[in-house]
Amino acid sequence: MILVTGGAGFIGGNFVLDWLANPRAEGIVNLDKLTYAGNLATLSSLEHDIRHQFVYGDIGDTILVTKLLQEYQPRAIVNFAAESHVDRSIHGPAEFIQTNIVGTFNLLECAREYWSNLNADMKKSFRFHHVSTDEVYGSLTPSASAFSETNPYEPNSPYSASKAASDHLVRAWFHTYGFPVVTTNCSNNYGPYHFPEKLIPLAILNALNGKPLPIYGDGQQIRDWLYVGDHCSAIREVLSRGKLGETYNIGGWNEKANIDVVKAICLILNELKPRSDGRSYVEQITFVRDRPGHDRRYAIDASKVERELGWRPAKTFDTGIRKTVQWYLDNPVWIEGVVSGTYRDWLQKQYS
Ligand code: NAD
Ligand code: TYD
Repeated sequence: MILVTGGAGFIGGNFVLDWLANPRAEGIVNLDKLTYAGNLATLSSLEHDIRHQFVYGDIGDTILVTKLLQEYQPRAIVNFAAESHVDRSIHGPAEFIQTNIVGTFNLLECAREYWSNLNADMKKSFRFHHVSTDEVYGSLTPSASAFSETNPYEPNSPYSASKAASDHLVRAWFHTYGFPVVTTNCSNNYGPYHFPEKLIPLAILNALNGKPLPIYGDGQQIRDWLYVGDHCSAIREVLSRGKLGETYNIGGWNEKANIDVVKAICLILNELKPRSDGRSYVEQITFVRDRPGHDRRYAIDASKVERELGWRPAKTFDTGIRKTVQWYLDNPVWIEGVVSGTYRDWLQKQYS
């Protein structure tokens, strides 16, 4: 088995589905606290798959994590569990400190204890893969080189500061205890099962519902966009062949201004699902007040992972965004559950 944390979220959910799409893959124990961002509907196709064991719980729960490690004896942990939305971190940073920093610390400590008692073979093959973000590097000027793994950390939001802290803990556990870690820092993901608080799913759903498409500030902030399936393949590669103690930047080689991302979505929707009045979805774009401390540009230099592990993204922005828009058009049931909040009924039924 491998232990995946946060596997009911956007990237973790895609990772679990992709992993188990391989019939020869090891099973997964999926530990998730099912915050507002955790959605078991994403994993509904695995309901009868005995290779997937879902466990409702917190990475900060020492007793539970210790018990799971003893019971399932995983040969790796992939840590996706986090609070992940910058805007939420501005309004309420406490949960970010708790899960992203204290939770990661707890997971590391439980895992180190487990690992230190493994037999020599298992000890050698064990991996702790920490999933992190390019936001830890701070903001780039328009002409600056893309982030490489040696860039200094300059996080600017409570979210990125909490992820930076977790990265430092992971690094220290390797240097101090020899605990076998790898870290990946990736750019903005997009794709299926993305919670519609983030720019791309929000723009698609607001467009279809005739609502404004909110662009913060002047919309010229630049992000590198990575298709989630490509991120998952990069994680599998780093998990199996990454060098211990190393970090790998994962990016899509797709730098785009926010306004251009939203316009691209509008043009695809004009084609696939034209508005009933025949006008363009672009007319719904609305400029709104900027995010406080909004980072201007992120860009990832993903050449190390290509050079050392031969990984490159398979999707361009054009192919990835088209596939994503099509997915949202084809999956009204998942969307309806998220928008109406019924995806949380299971939690209430099970635990109220
Ligand atoms: P998400 O918010 O969609 O999912 C996070 C998942 O973690 C949810 O299922 C949630 O229920 C779970 N969770 C939260 N707190 C928990 C806790 N204390 N214990 C157990 N589970 C908990 O996030 P995502 O977009 O899937 O991101 C996954 C990881 O990738 C995060 O670590 C994030 O920082 C990182 N990342 C995300 C992006 C992106 O563009 N989404 C980019 C770079 C890095
Ligand atoms: P987001 O998807 O929240 O990801 P992150 O903040 O982690 O990069 O935002 C992506 C970019 O889009 C970011 O520059 C903020 C901007 N944005 C908007 O312009 N409007 C919106 O409604 C949202 C949610 C984001």
